[in-house]
Amino acid sequence: MKTSENPYIPYLATIENAWYETGGERCIKTFKVVIDDKEVRENWNHCPGQSAMIGVLGVGESMISISASPTEGRFLRFSVMRMGKVTQALHQLDPGDKMTIRGPYGNGFPLEEWEGKHILTIGGGIGQAPLRPIIEYVKAKQDLYAGLTMIYGARTSGDLCFKDEFTEMSKCDDLSCHLTIDIEEEGWEHNVGFVPQMLLDLNPSPENKIAITCGPPIMIRFVLENLKKLGFADEQIYTTLENRMKCGIGKCGRCNVGNLYVCKDGPVFCYSVLKNVPEAFA
Ligand SMILES: Cc1cc2nc3c(=O)[nH]c(=O)nc-3n(C[C@H](O)[C@H](O)[C@H](O)COP(=O)(O)OP(=O)(O)OC[C@H]3O[C@@H](n4cnc5c(N)ncnc54)[C@H](O)[C@@H]3O)c2cc1C
Ligand code: FES
Repeated sequence: MKTSENPYIPYLATIENAWYETGGERCIKTFKVVIDDKEVRENWNHCPGQSAMIGVLGVGESMISISASPTEGRFLRFSVMRMGKVTQALHQLDPGDKMTIRGPYGNGFPLEEWEGKHILTIGGGIGQAPLRPIIEYVKAKQDLYAGLTMIYGARTSGDLCFKDEFTEMSKCDDLSCHLTIDIEEEGWEHNVGFVPQMLLDLNPSPENKIAITCGPPIMIRFVLENLKKLGFADEQIYTTLENRMKCGIGKCGRCNVGNLYVCKDGPVFCYSVLKNVPEAFA
């Protein structure tokens, strides 16, 4: 396909829509983006869990998860937390502005392999960005999966991403949606408490399930511990690593953990692989 002819060449894309998911210093802005070149756009082929290098001309690029599922249409979505130089420049962009995109990179989640299983996603904060396309994908192909359970938490209700989609999700027959925040808030009708504890409280049976967790490293550590307490086998557990990256294609050595290149071998890893790489959780 045209997107893989030269992996270093970025494509120009136009921002169709942009909105803030959260506020504060590390606010998150979502961009709905359409690649300008018709041929590239029509041949673009990503799977949930893959990322792209997105950038601002003259400033630089950052690796960002593609938060749209290919089942949603011929556009991409990126939810970007304002961190440093590049993400601050991205936050200055509005509908009609251009950004650059190269990719898609990484392995993605093996969703075809998981057909027939019940999918359990466990996310925290901006970690919901790589999980959102799984949810959209499974919603679009409900007949192929045994069900979908989403656990998602953030520090406060204002820190939750994709809020407007939760109501829609709760209407979906086979989806059970569980939200939690760390600190009690007036008017909050869902759970209060940390994500790993909510997982234990819900006590999901591991039978015929795949569990995928993305979020802050400390949350992932406790979620993994609790999934093991609940009886999940290593092969039933997946997560993503987000080591800093430069080339995105296994050439520069920037993203290694142990003998793994996160950009090429990941960012999606099964726990049966990661548990033998101590640096992954350092
Ligand atoms: C596979 C992958 C997927 C990602 N998906 C998303 C996403 O969907 N949304 C999103 O907002 N971010 C995502 N990130 C992180 C994102 O790439 C960085 O936040 C971004 O590159 C920071 O660039 P910057 O120039 O704005 O900040 P910099 O000036 O480079 O850094 C600012 C601060 O952020 C820290 N930082 C930078 N990169 C990372 C990183 N990878 N992990 C932890 N801390 C970092 C730096 O140590 C520094 O403290 C992803 C990273 C990877 C590798
Ligand atoms: S980012 Fe260059 S090797 Fe992974």
